[in-house]
Amino acid sequence: MKEKNFYTLGIETSCDETAAAILRGDRELLSNIVYSQAEIHKKYGGVVPEVASRDHLRKIQFVINEALTEAGVHLPELDLIGVTQGPGLVGCLLVGLSTAKGISFGLEKPLIGVNHLEGHLFAHYIESGLEAPPPFVALIVSGGHTSLVHVREWGHYEVIGETRDDAAGEAFDKVGKLIGLGYPAGIEVDRLSKQGNRSAIAFPRPMLDEPGFDFSFAGLKTAILYHMREHPETSQADLAASFQEAVVDVLVEKTLRAADDLKIGRIVVVGGVAANSRLRERFQSSDSGVGVDVHFPSLNLCTDNAAMIAAVAHFHYASNPAHVLNGLQDLSPSSSLRL
Ligand SMILES: Nc1ncnc2c1ncn2[C@@H]1O[C@H](COP(=O)(O)OP(=O)(O)OP(=O)(O)O)[C@@H](O)[C@H]1O
Ligand SMILES: [Mg+2]
Repeated sequence: MKEKNFYTLGIETSCDETAAAILRGDRELLSNIVYSQAEIHKKYGGVVPEVASRDHLRKIQFVINEALTEAGVHLPELDLIGVTQGPGLVGCLLVGLSTAKGISFGLEKPLIGVNHLEGHLFAHYIESGLEAPPPFVALIVSGGHTSLVHVREWGHYEVIGETRDDAAGEAFDKVGKLIGLGYPAGIEVDRLSKQGNRSAIAFPRPMLDEPGFDFSFAGLKTAILYHMREHPETSQADLAASFQEAVVDVLVEKTLRAADDLKIGRIVVVGGVAANSRLRERFQSSDSGVGVDVHFPSLNLCTDNAAMIAAVAHFHYASNPAHVLNGLQDLSPSSSLRL
């Protein structure tokens, strides 16, 4: 494979971001276009699947064109197409998959279906995979997932803990909404927390005292609701900061414990909630404290993007080119694809 001029198109439409990226070789990003539907879903206070699918359909070709233009690559020059196959909203995934199949069929170029969660891990692969390779413990913390994963090597994953109910990002969004913040609420909780007192309210630290590496965040929402009823005078900022500290405490402590248990000196934090400033701060101070090496991708690679999808596709293609599909073969969306 001529690495230098091998171009991969990545396509991501699993939720409410329409994204396309062009990768040269294994990790050189030539473009990374993300169009967010947040404005559209704002008035409903959450992602409406049918609305999201229709908007992906409306935007996908423009987003791909922009990715090609910014990269200075023409469509026929593409060597490989990678597309998110799941997990995600089926109607949304179908738009990306159908588009990818059409391009693969038309150009007679290989196509690879990508697991979105492996995608989040590959945000690290793109930026720091060479200096900080596996083995490491990964905390995937996003809108739909909270998982601790033992990454033995790229392509070999063992999930050692998961949330039993809400994902951490989901908790951020629900609690943000509950305390009256706008959509999308996760990032608003982060912003507002900077003005609040994180020890104002001692919210529970769910599952922290239990063995194992599972999480649970649904109960926190109820704890906050009760607190708001009993103490309506509590400021939004104190509620946000105290809630955020409870979530961050659990995530940091469980992840450090997992690294210690597995005797692994490296931690990688990925997914949308990895953009949280307090989580980054706390992990970075633990870095110097207990001698583990902690990595976070840049903010634009934490939340959904297609660069990470292109990188996974290229990795699997390079490892085993015989296993690729083409636009004529079946590639169905999978809403609950696991790592
Ligand atoms: N600064 C932040 N602080 C806390 N949460 C944040 C921050 N920025 C983004 N998030 C949360 O990250 C989530 C979005 O992340 P991401 O785009 O990776 O999730 P997703 O694609 O919806 O879910 P999944 O990857 O599990 O399918 C949302 O829940 C959002 O609230
Ligand atoms: Mg995601």
